[in-house]
Amino acid sequence: MDNIVIETRQLTKIYGEQTVVNEVNLHVRKGRIYGLLGRNGAGKTTIMKMILGLSSVTSGEVDVFSQTIKGNEKYIYPRIGAIIETPGFYPNLTGTENLEIFAKLRGTSRPNAVKEALGVVGLPYRDKKVFSKYSLGMKQRLGIANAILHDPELLILDEPTNGLDPIGIAEVRSFIQDLCVKRGKTVLISSHILSEISLLADDIGIIHNGVLLEENSLAELHKRNSKYILLQVSDTAKAVLLLERRFHVKEYSVQDTHTVLLYDTDLDMAEINKALMLENISVISLQLCNDTLEDYFKKVTGGEGIA
Ligand SMILES: Nc1ncnc2c1ncn2[C@@H]1O[C@H](COP(=O)(O)OP(=O)(O)OP(=O)(O)O)[C@@H](O)[C@H]1O
Ligand SMILES: [Mg+2]
Repeated sequence: MDNIVIETRQLTKIYGEQTVVNEVNLHVRKGRIYGLLGRNGAGKTTIMKMILGLSSVTSGEVDVFSQTIKGNEKYIYPRIGAIIETPGFYPNLTGTENLEIFAKLRGTSRPNAVKEALGVVGLPYRDKKVFSKYSLGMKQRLGIANAILHDPELLILDEPTNGLDPIGIAEVRSFIQDLCVKRGKTVLISSHILSEISLLADDIGIIHNGVLLEENSLAELHKRNSKYILLQVSDTAKAVLLLERRFHVKEYSVQDTHTVLLYDTDLDMAEINKALMLENISVISLQLCNDTLEDYFKKVTGGEGIA
């Protein structure tokens, strides 16, 4: 498909006895920010390394720009910018000097590439501070500047906000959004912090023990996890019939023989209760619920949650 920039099919990585990435099918769409969310050790870095050819694939396939990574890398990788773990910068050179070296190595022809990249991440151009004197936040920024130096179409950023303070995180978030919205870049970003991903990403993949448990747009996840009325009754079939006829309920889902979720939260719960009882339908429970995204992640990752 044209609008898919990265697609993995049954992507699997096995180290010894351990399957660390298990048949993952992920889809990163053009011009969008895809957040790969998972706890420590979930397999995020390994997936990114396989996409970038930094780690061999045990089985399955990776397509980038609609080309399967197998011999086409020479044409594909110049179109990608990545930070996976800290890049090797020279400690005794300044940020500008470091980037100038990387620009030469990569054959970046644009004359202002270094200045522009530093500007995007908010680092000064041609200042005197050497890399070894940089704070962690500045190092992270330089890493991102290095990744965007050659103006790639696709950015793969492995936990780029690790170790940043809240203001630093907000700034990085804002320039990643700018890169996507103003410059049309596609971004695959990983994090173990739900709040960070939910403020940034358009689409989310939840990875747990190497398995992609869910892949969806943030909007869809929010919709699914908003307010609802939980109704537990002796007979859902009879209850639903009554709700449809008497209360004109259309938006609902039957969960099991005793449970129905009603998505219209303006319904009069007392009236519903009364009507059900008059029809001899026992009401076990009737309550307004407000599932947050966090509750949802806890549920899909087996109770412990993320972050
Ligand atoms: N070279 C390796 N040899 C053996 N096992 C490895 C290797 N690299 C990673 N693993 C294992 O693979 C699993 C996934 O690791 P990975 O680094 O992909 O997780 P992650 O989601 O990036 O975690 P974190 O949030 O801590 O960065 C872990 O159990 C890790 O120990
Ligand atoms: Mg990692």
